[in-house]
Amino acid sequence: MHIKTALAASVAALSYVTIAHANPQAEVLHWWTSGSEAKSVAVLQQEFAEKGGTWTDMPVAGGGGDAAMTALRARVLSGNAPTAVQLKGPAIQEWYAEGVLADISAVAEAQGWAKVLPESIANHMKCDGTWCAAPVNVHRVDWIWANKVLLDQHSIAMPNTWEEFNAAADKLKAAGVTPLAHGGQSWQDATVFETVVLGIGGPDFFRKALVDLDKDALTSDTMVKVFDQMRKMRGYVDANFSGRDWNLATAMVMNGEAAFQIMGDWAKGEFLAAGKTPGTDFLCGSTPGDGYLYNVDSFAMFKVDGQDKIDGQNLLAELIVGPNFQKVFNMNKGSIPARTDVALNDFDDCAKLSAADMGTTSDAGSLLPSYAHGMALRGAQAGAITDVVTAHFNSDMSSADAVKMRAEGVANSM
Ligand code: BGC
Repeated sequence: MHIKTALAASVAALSYVTIAHANPQAEVLHWWTSGSEAKSVAVLQQEFAEKGGTWTDMPVAGGGGDAAMTALRARVLSGNAPTAVQLKGPAIQEWYAEGVLADISAVAEAQGWAKVLPESIANHMKCDGTWCAAPVNVHRVDWIWANKVLLDQHSIAMPNTWEEFNAAADKLKAAGVTPLAHGGQSWQDATVFETVVLGIGGPDFFRKALVDLDKDALTSDTMVKVFDQMRKMRGYVDANFSGRDWNLATAMVMNGEAAFQIMGDWAKGEFLAAGKTPGTDFLCGSTPGDGYLYNVDSFAMFKVDGQDKIDGQNLLAELIVGPNFQKVFNMNKGSIPARTDVALNDFDDCAKLSAADMGTTSDAGSLLPSYAHGMALRGAQAGAITDVVTAHFNSDMSSADAVKMRAEGVANSM
């Protein structure tokens, strides 16, 4: 290279480095708006600010993220994607296929993500061999939360089978206590439904029905039994369940207005934020049956113009997978770190149980992606299943009709 050109290039590189870290910017789209969720994401905002970043918050309320995904589509279609988006499961690869995701492999490689993330999680973060998302945590979905005082008052133990759950719920109902705190929003119906599929059908059946969309499994007698149990669950919720947000359902358990909630461990974040202690004020247990339904939150970066924004994306990716953030965020959020090298000593007992069960189910082949939280299926396929779950829950549709209607819906979504 000519000396003058070389000089110019190195000056450019130098000024690039200086400018590169001058003012990292990020507009972050997420749906963490409940008390504990906001407290958790504030940890990232703070770390980002400490590194000189400017964070523009774009929270879109709505548990499970359906509203956030609608907002995202509108932004991308108008050619103005946010810099960083809470996105997970196959939706990451769906957006990648649209050609709108940024490649964050340079950060992933510099930070050695491959060495600290389990392969099952890392695979969700890759698009054609490149890193296209940064994982935040592992939430377990198949949990049942209980008000300990209420259970003690009625001499009820945490249920290990669905028969035990039904017996406990019948007893509570007869005593005038709402057995199940639930919010009638389709993603919450789907959350309960998938734990029943896992419990009644077992891990192999879950995989066939809700991951592989196997027609025989979807139309089997086992699936009829699952809907029978859903009909029972409908009888255990209070009259005002329709449209209720998940955190308000959690508050019902906290305040003794209901005994149980079936919800992922973001519900635990709410208990903890209210100063409640597991084992004393509330109980956690996996829903009846074997297996573990995982839900990994992650952020994908969208292609944007401007070095400040690109710097913001790289800084965010680095912080998200950083050990400090993974610890502090997840202690607030109710989840466990995605990284395997973060010590869990300071975490609560439910988190320790989650980590232990994740290990054993991974070995046993029963660690499964949550369909209700977008980890297992493409959006249209999951939607076809959830539509029927919700329609059945909110009507007197028979289990046989639900199974039939769903098989048709899934076939049309393929
Ligand atoms: C997300 C959690 C969130 C929950 C309720 C889930 O799909 O993974 O991070 O707390 O929805 O909004």
